[in-house]
Amino acid sequence: MRKPIIAGNWKMFKTRDEALQFILAVYDKMPSQEKVDSVICSQFTVLRCLVKRQGENLRIGAQNMHFEDSGAFTGEVSADMLKSIGVTYVIIGHSERRAMFNETDESVNKKLHKAFEKELTPILCVGESLEQRENGKVEEFIGNQLKLDLAGLTKEQVKELVIAYEPIWAIGTGKTATSQVADETCGFIRSMIKELYDQETADAIRIQYGGSVKTSNIDELMSMPNIDGALIGGASLKADDFVKLVNAAVK
Ligand code: PGA
Repeated sequence: MRKPIIAGNWKMFKTRDEALQFILAVYDKMPSQEKVDSVICSQFTVLRCLVKRQGENLRIGAQNMHFEDSGAFTGEVSADMLKSIGVTYVIIGHSERRAMFNETDESVNKKLHKAFEKELTPILCVGESLEQRENGKVEEFIGNQLKLDLAGLTKEQVKELVIAYEPIWAIGTGKTATSQVADETCGFIRSMIKELYDQETADAIRIQYGGSVKTSNIDELMSMPNIDGALIGGASLKADDFVKLVNAAVK
C-alpha cells in the first residue's frame, strides 16, 4: 500500500508573520507520519522559519531550485542551500514555472537529477492544457513530458519520486477535474512508469492530483485507486483547511 502524501503549495503568498501564525496553528495537529506524509512548500524567505517549527509530522519543501551546485546565477537557490536549512522536499516543473519562467523539460530533468543527488524528495508536476485535452492529446503530451523529465533516472530514484498530475485548466480556476478524469490520468501516468521502468516501480510511485482541491472534494478524490494524495494551492493557505485536508487522506 502506498502512503498518501498531502502537500500545500503556497506559491507567492504569506509574509513571515503569516507563515508563523499558520505553522503554530497546524504543527501539532498533523496525523501520524505512519499514515500520511504532510508537506508545506513555501517560498524561500519563510522556509527556515517553518522548518524550525515543523513538528513531528510535517515536512517543509521549496517550490523550485537551480540544477547547478553554485555559481553566477543571480536570484537562484541551490539544492545544498535548501538542504542546509533542513528542507526535505522540492516542487519541480510546476506549470506556472513552465509557463512564466522558462522552465523546460530539459531543466526539469536536470533539477530532478540534482534533487536526488542531494537527497531532496522532488514533487514533479506534469499536466495538460485545456486545448490539449479538447484535442485528445492528453496521453501524448503527458507521456512525452514524463519521458523527457525522467530521462536517466534510476528505478530506485523513481520509486521515491512524487508525481503531481495537475491539469493546467484546473489550477486556481475552481474547476476540478472530475475524480474519474483525475484517476484515469493518474492511472495513465502509472502505466507510463510501468512502460519506462517496471511494475514494481509503477506500484511504488506516489501520484498526487492537483487543481482546485478543497475540503469539499478531497474525500472523493482520495477514494480513487490511482490517486495517492494532493498538491493543493489556494486551500492550503488556511490552517484549518490544511488540517482537514491532511486528515481526509487518512480515512
Ligand atoms: P490550486 O493550485 O489548488 O490553487 O488550484 C494547485 C497548484 O497549482 O499546485
